Amino acid sequence: MTSSTFLRQRFAGELAAYGRFTDPAWRAAVEAVPRELFLGDAVFRPQGIEWEPVRREQLGDEAWLSMVYSDTTWVTQVDGIGARDAPGPLAGRPTSSSTLPSLVVRMLELADVRDGDRVLEIGTGTGYSTAILCHRLGGKAVYSVEYDEYLAAAAARHLRAAGCSPHLAVGDGLRGHQDGADYDAVIATCAVRTIPPSWLWQLREGGSIVTTLSGWMLGSGLIRLVLDDKGTAHGRFVTDQASYMLARPHERPPRPTFYAHPGSTRDSWVSPDLLDDLTGLFVAQLGAPSAELVRTGDGLAQVDVATGSQAWTEPDGTGWTVHQDGPLRLWDQVEEALDAWQKAGSPDRTAFGMTVTEGDQTVWLGDPAGPCRRLPT
Ligand SMILES: C[S@@+](CC[C@H](N)C(=O)[O-])C[C@H]1O[C@@H](n2cnc3c(N)ncnc32)[C@H](O)[C@@H]1O
Repeated sequence: MTSSTFLRQRFAGELAAYGRFTDPAWRAAVEAVPRELFLGDAVFRPQGIEWEPVRREQLGDEAWLSMVYSDTTWVTQVDGIGARDAPGPLAGRPTSSSTLPSLVVRMLELADVRDGDRVLEIGTGTGYSTAILCHRLGGKAVYSVEYDEYLAAAAARHLRAAGCSPHLAVGDGLRGHQDGADYDAVIATCAVRTIPPSWLWQLREGGSIVTTLSGWMLGSGLIRLVLDDKGTAHGRFVTDQASYMLARPHERPPRPTFYAHPGSTRDSWVSPDLLDDLTGLFVAQLGAPSAELVRTGDGLAQVDVATGSQAWTEPDGTGWTVHQDGPLRLWDQVEEALDAWQKAGSPDRTAFGMTVTEGDQTVWLGDPAGPCRRLPT
């Protein structure tokens, strides 16, 4: 059988050939950390709209290891159920995974992590990315927080088996982790709707926060924020199409089955197809941050669970009609945001940036004085 060491080195070589490392220290870490230790012996793979558990013994070692050493995110938990315990395919939401290694490294490079740094990771998950950090920085300099007690215990076992001894904590990483503050970097491997103020408080001046900013329409952007001497963090989104599962306290509220209400009807000024574009979706979400997106047969709908407001579109032969019901005019909000974006020439997410203070968070277009949106707090 092909050895894990050989597969790991070949895998790191493939990532290098695709230009995934600019710093050789991360290549060395990928070569050294056995990812199979962290995946356990079962994962989920997508099967239509469900997640099918796949076990090592069912695939055989050779096929299992080639899955492990592919640049793929492997979902390990769906709605709190681990792949080993799943009775069969599950239809729920992924709640933990081992992120694809190229993205693990990309986040670390974006954070500009250097030898001697102290790093806080939010979302230990399987512990794989924690082990990559430990390989470079040593366990004493690595702090990692996991929300789910069961996952945290498994990650702790696997990290020990890999010879890593980071500081691990079980809890809500949106509160940061005061023990190791001030950090040189905070890296979130779950997405957030807003930047938790604790991440700013626990960062040294000049330190960076790397995270995906997402929301209830699941429009997401990867950003590096740097803390200035006044305690404000600033940064611009990067081009990568990175998406992570939302931090558990930022998850969408449970949504009842969608039934379309006629409400008030008018022509839509914009096509709902704009939300098929990743930046269009990101902008629409900034416009209506409390809305969830529902795909209907030939259009889309937005639902605000708290107020029961809804908006839904349908083709009318020449364009689109929109129906809105409830106290919030969700489509008006979306149109206004999309209009500002289109007037600026529909740029990609690198045209957007963020300014975060203790009390206020805005995403702006162009520069900090450009059109901006306040994030929900
Ligand atoms: C994409 S997975 C982490 C991937 C992980 N770093 C790895 O390489 O295996 C996201 C993790 O974030 C955890 N999580 C979600 N919300 C959290 C929170 N508020 N605080 C800490 N962890 C959280 C989830 O339980 C999940 O394990």
